[in-house]
Amino acid sequence: MATLLVKKNVLLLMLVAISMTLQMMVGVEAIDIGIAKDTSITMFNNISQPLTIHCKEKGYDDGFHTLSPGASYRFTITILRIFPRSLWFCSFNWTGAFHYFDIYVQKRDKGCGRHGCGWYIKKEGPCKIGGDCYPWMK
Ligand SMILES: *[C@@H]1O[C@H](CO)[C@@H](O)[C@H](O)[C@H]1NC(C)=O
Ligand SMILES: *[C@@H]1O[C@H](CO)[C@@H](O)[C@H](O)[C@H]1NC(C)=O
Repeated sequence: MATLLVKKNVLLLMLVAISMTLQMMVGVEAIDIGIAKDTSITMFNNISQPLTIHCKEKGYDDGFHTLSPGASYRFTITILRIFPRSLWFCSFNWTGAFHYFDIYVQKRDKGCGRHGCGWYIKKEGPCKIGGDCYPWMK
């Protein structure tokens, strides 16, 4: 009987410890969500030829993606709210052409909503969906 009582107390103690740990974990997660958030970038190939896109950020390389005409490519990025300096730069190439463009500049693109920013990639340069068109940087 006494053993059973001790076991019950140990179990209770463990439950308290587990729930406290969970609360702490949730607390930490809540702080993370407040500082960083995910957003996405979608690019449509509006060039009448296959288009290869290669995007990078300092320390991260998203690799090469070749899109057929009309196809799109979407990728998710994590940005910091307290240090808004995210910069993703991409190269765009198709037969006979090679260009660069900064596809995500946090100051310029912070207004992109929950679904992120969308771009039509044209021969003359990228056009932000619902926004401006830009010339190639190179
Ligand atoms: C770009 O391509 C997409 C997908 O094919 C199409 O919906 C959109 O209208 C095109 N936009 C322009 C400006 O050509
Ligand atoms: C773009 O350049 C890459 C690397 O140089 C090459 O592998 C790819 O075939 C090119 N894409 C197109 C559509 O020409």
